[in-house]
Amino acid sequence: MDNTVNADMVEFWNGVGGQKWLRFQDNMKESLKPFGHMAMDAASISTGEQVIDVGCGCGDTTFEIARRVGPGGQVLGVDISKSLLAEATGRATSAGQETVTFENADAQTHPFSPNAFDVVFSQFGVMFFGHPAGAFKNLRSALKSGGRVAFATWQPAKNNEWITLSLDVVAKHLPLPAPSGPEEPGPLSFGDTERVKKILTKAGFSDIGMEGVSTSFIAGPNLDYAVEFLTQLGPAGRAITNSEANEETKSRIAGDMRDALGAYETDRGVEIGSAIWVVTARN
Ligand SMILES: C[S@@+](CC[C@H](N)C(=O)[O-])C[C@H]1O[C@@H](n2cnc3c(N)ncnc32)[C@H](O)[C@@H]1O
Repeated sequence: MDNTVNADMVEFWNGVGGQKWLRFQDNMKESLKPFGHMAMDAASISTGEQVIDVGCGCGDTTFEIARRVGPGGQVLGVDISKSLLAEATGRATSAGQETVTFENADAQTHPFSPNAFDVVFSQFGVMFFGHPAGAFKNLRSALKSGGRVAFATWQPAKNNEWITLSLDVVAKHLPLPAPSGPEEPGPLSFGDTERVKKILTKAGFSDIGMEGVSTSFIAGPNLDYAVEFLTQLGPAGRAITNSEANEETKSRIAGDMRDALGAYETDRGVEIGSAIWVVTARN
């Protein structure tokens, strides 16, 4: 397989994407946790198992999986972002995590040990593959016969209020970029159930399940944080970053975002509707 197919994503996650992910890590770590745990539960990860955590970022899911597999198990976290992995490795060293290994690798093409793993897991890390079916075929080759896949991925934008609300605010000030094409890698590229089933089937998986979960997502512990987060990350953040908006326009967007998010403040933070798929399959 062509090793350069993910070049754009390698650049993004080693550049601005990685920097932003790190910047909002304190909130993201907590707000995405329930989604990752749903996928771990769906895979029934258990003691003594060998697991790959695809697109492990700063490693929080990798450490939780290590807790679940216990001292007899092993977890390999792979990520294309050196900066996020540096954070993960630092955390592993300070926590004395001996059953965790991190590799700076493209999960799409990395030569994993064949037939060695029980589970391939991911929390929002598999939607960025240039060739998803080839990537999942590669990951399947690492799984033992009967091994499982489980990952959390976003449902389409229209089901995610945190996306529609923030894009509606931006649209009052800027022309929105055309939505990405159905085959284009990106956070929403696994929203279509038929596409995901086709990818996994082509990669050789069976027993494919997609459970829809509609819940809420904490965009930040308070309004200031949530405004900053939604104007920097996600589809609205990207629309602003990629526009030629001047500081005055950005500040008007932030003001309107603040007004729009006011209704979503709760004791837990700014809590807004979200929807994911918990996808499972078997080798
Ligand atoms: C949305 S972030 C999620 C990070 C982490 N799983 C979390 O939930 O905090 C996506 C992650 O996938 C990684 N990634 C994207 N494409 C990848 C690939 N082909 N192989 C390995 N990691 C990849 C990115 O570098 C990034 O860390």
